[in-house]
Amino acid sequence: TFPTLTLNTGAKLPAVGLGTWQSPDQEAYNAVATALKLGYRHIDGAAIYRNEVPVGKAIRDSGIPRSEIFVTTKLWGTQHREPEKALDASLQRLGLDYVDLYLVHWPVALKTNNLKDGDLLTIPVKDDGNRDVDLEGWDYVKTWELVQKLVETGKTKAVGVSNFSINNLKAILKPELKFVVPAANQIEVHPQLPQDELIEFCNAHGIVVEAYCPLGSTTSTLLSDPDLLKIASKYSVEPAQVLINWGVARGYSVLPKSVNPKRIESNFKAIKLSPEDIQAISDLHKKVGTHRYVDPKWGSFEAFA
Ligand code: A2P
Repeated sequence: TFPTLTLNTGAKLPAVGLGTWQSPDQEAYNAVATALKLGYRHIDGAAIYRNEVPVGKAIRDSGIPRSEIFVTTKLWGTQHREPEKALDASLQRLGLDYVDLYLVHWPVALKTNNLKDGDLLTIPVKDDGNRDVDLEGWDYVKTWELVQKLVETGKTKAVGVSNFSINNLKAILKPELKFVVPAANQIEVHPQLPQDELIEFCNAHGIVVEAYCPLGSTTSTLLSDPDLLKIASKYSVEPAQVLINWGVARGYSVLPKSVNPKRIESNFKAIKLSPEDIQAISDLHKKVGTHRYVDPKWGSFEAFA
């Protein structure tokens, strides 16, 4: 079994969680139901994934006490001005009284040109290309000022960020602001994007790192890397298991996404990698250079630097 990590709130976070990005409704429901049956107790979602309804339903239908499942959702860019209303809307879709962790999805507030003010909390049905960086006197420091207060409402047990760079974190950690320190920073991490410096910064500030796209996601060549395949065959496991366990061994939370029951199961098997193999996996990017799966254009822009 995998370890648990401790957030700066004292809450326990199961190291491996199920990612739900790009899982459509019925698949998302089945994936979450399967994962919970197999022993997962950490489910990672987001408003913009547009599947909070089936994700929440699967959690409620599981029969597992709510207190035993760690549930995360995220504030989308169009919702930065009114995070409490956005959280209310997420809770309503999930059918839950609270989430365990509420994350600012990106350090960028967006406006959607074709929506009226009152619609800012609505997640656009599809990405129509009309969203834009909000230039009208808003930035993620203001967003964090609002989000950090949400723990008091009881609607989330902890608050954190996602896709925050060291500079983004420094901006909200300025001592004179006296803001709550984020409990977590969820970022893209895999051997082709090891993020050592950012992880070290988070560790030094007691911010738990959560790794998304731990398998390099759909377009990556990572899963077929010959050196990775060699290590996997040595342990008689799949390459994905090696990648997940590499992340856990490095001390952070790992969020593999799958809607395939067999993969959901194999992704949840803990293995003990030797220090030499951990190092060999850390060195994989040296052959091909680093590779970011998530297009920085989606959310980070010049702020993510
Ligand atoms: P599927 O949902 O059909 O299993 P990441 O978490 O890095 O974003 O990767 C997710 C992608 O990797 C999805 O396309 C998912 O497809 C696939 N995937 C998940 N688990 C495994 C696995 N054990 N082996 C191979 N591919 C996997």
